[in-house]
Amino acid sequence: MPRKLAAGNWKMNGLAASLAEVETLAERFATPSCDVLICPPATLLSRMADLPRGAIEVGGQDCHANPSGAHTGDLSADMLADAGATHVITGHSERRADHGETDADVAAKTEAGWRAGLTAVVCLGETLAEREAGQTLGVVGRQLAGSVPDGATTAKCVIAYEPVWAIGTGLVPTLDQIGEVHSSIRSALVARFGETEGGGMRILYGGSVKPSNATEIFGVADVDGALVGGASLKADDFGGIISALEASVG
Ligand code: 13P
Repeated sequence: MPRKLAAGNWKMNGLAASLAEVETLAERFATPSCDVLICPPATLLSRMADLPRGAIEVGGQDCHANPSGAHTGDLSADMLADAGATHVITGHSERRADHGETDADVAAKTEAGWRAGLTAVVCLGETLAEREAGQTLGVVGRQLAGSVPDGATTAKCVIAYEPVWAIGTGLVPTLDQIGEVHSSIRSALVARFGETEGGGMRILYGGSVKPSNATEIFGVADVDGALVGGASLKADDFGGIISALEASVG
């Protein structure tokens, strides 16, 4: 079974001075008992990769589906890998909303990440209107089917369930609601990719995860870690979440 994963998504935050947070984390978690990943803005990627960062891995927040070409402002998965990334986030709801990315786009980007040797962290999640209309499992199931390409394995793919209404709002689903979605994602993964790959693939929860709520969230079945936005920007906060994940492993 792969280890649990604490992943930080810095989004459009962070200047050179923020790199000190990673050094602090690397000192505190020299040999963590879970995987730790930080996805900084692309401007910091290679500098972060070059830091003495111990076991902390570095990832991109998005990639283009093509390996190179005339796409001003975009970055290919090969460029991320070349800069030191081992992971790439695909299909974050902010990219789906801000850039109109469809499930097919997300699948193409995920495959591009795989071709470059990256592990893709594929994001899914319903809006508040969809949840209130009772459509959560249907929406997440459709996103999963359309965004995760055939051939997904535990090594190449991580799923992140991030309800849009919980991102950056301080609102968090109940533990039962998280458990219901994660269990339905697990069933779909096992049905499609088999007991070994689908059963082992990590499913992260994301949306207002903080040190204060991490322990209870990590106690939910089929929650294999977290994808953390705001609370990943400061070593103290992200460190608290990593410690909670380590404690959940025992
Ligand atoms: P917050 O932790 O800031 O709610 O963001 C979650 C997220 O979108 C991570 O990708």
